[in-house]
Amino acid sequence: MQTTLVLGIESSCDETAAAVVADGYDIRSSIVHSQVAEHAKFGGVVPELAGRSHLEQIVPTIRRALDSAGVTLDDIDAIAVTNRPGLIGSLLIGLSTAKALALTRGLPLVPVHHIEAHVHAATMESLRGTEGRTEFPWPAVALVVSGGHTALYRVDSALSMRRIASTLDDAAGEAFDKVAWLLGLGYPGGPSVSKLAEQGDSRAVDFPRYRPKDGGLGFSFSGLKTAVLYHLRGGDALAPTPAPEAIVGRADVAASFQEAVVDSLTTQTLRAAEREGVDTVLVAGGVACNTRLREVLTARAAQVGVRAHFPAPKYCTDNAAMIAGLGYERLRAGLAADLSVDAAAR
Ligand code: KG4
Ligand code: ZN
Repeated sequence: MQTTLVLGIESSCDETAAAVVADGYDIRSSIVHSQVAEHAKFGGVVPELAGRSHLEQIVPTIRRALDSAGVTLDDIDAIAVTNRPGLIGSLLIGLSTAKALALTRGLPLVPVHHIEAHVHAATMESLRGTEGRTEFPWPAVALVVSGGHTALYRVDSALSMRRIASTLDDAAGEAFDKVAWLLGLGYPGGPSVSKLAEQGDSRAVDFPRYRPKDGGLGFSFSGLKTAVLYHLRGGDALAPTPAPEAIVGRADVAASFQEAVVDSLTTQTLRAAEREGVDTVLVAGGVACNTRLREVLTARAAQVGVRAHFPAPKYCTDNAAMIAGLGYERLRAGLAADLSVDAAAR
């Protein structure tokens, strides 16, 4: 059977990425130019800086993706690109580049939803059969957990997902970033908090876990964030926040905070799987890199006969392999767009 090569392009936030993927699962190349260092001194993503950097990086990144896959544009069968959601100025750079390539090369243009692509990333490894592509064991429940999203979805196929729960306030990644800041750790906070947590005792501080009323589904992390702040102030809400170097038991705070987040994410995901009657869960987004989440969720899922799938860590955070992968599914389903397709922030 002939292979279909899709070039994926991603520029929705602070990563400029391009990838070449065969038949929706076989990653031939995946190049990510991260702007993290450029935004770190501001403690978060600055949209204007992001747009400018995408503009500089997009063409070299695509070129590197083609080179590293050992192909040229002549070999590509379709262009897939993130068109929503994200920073509008950033999205437009990827989308305009994709349109230009599709137009000049006469290739189908496939718009892809960034969150759906994160979920697809968790299935890609399982699509690799002994003789080419196999099908994924749908249905599943997906937990998308990143700096901007924390939500659960019912997923019936790569092209059909419905949100069943989300966070009332902060995303889990945002909570990691804020707690990292309180502890005087670097941005982004997830990796630095989890590294420090390795040296701490996760039972040292009993931080609260949000539980939705009536056994419902949902997340909330703002109470936990405040609990960390008050703990650092020695239990006195009105006391000044200590400087990071004056904090006693920083590693214990990091480990106990991480445990509370992991516990909430795991409990809610498995409750959703039970409610939906599925035995497959997918976990995706930057926080899916977290080693403790991978361990706890996998083990607790196995206890109730549920199989948890995570992308390899480098495909948890923003990348274009997931865009090309889902782009292939959409292409097969006849969902290519014309050049009038727009970007959308939400
Ligand atoms: O998916 P992503 O790259 O970007 C979006 O937000 O769309 O996710 C970034 C988030 C950041 O908040 C970062 O702190 C978090 O993922 N993160 C982690 C880890 N690695 C990244 N959180 C916890 N543990 C990690 N190892
Ligand atoms: Zn993302």
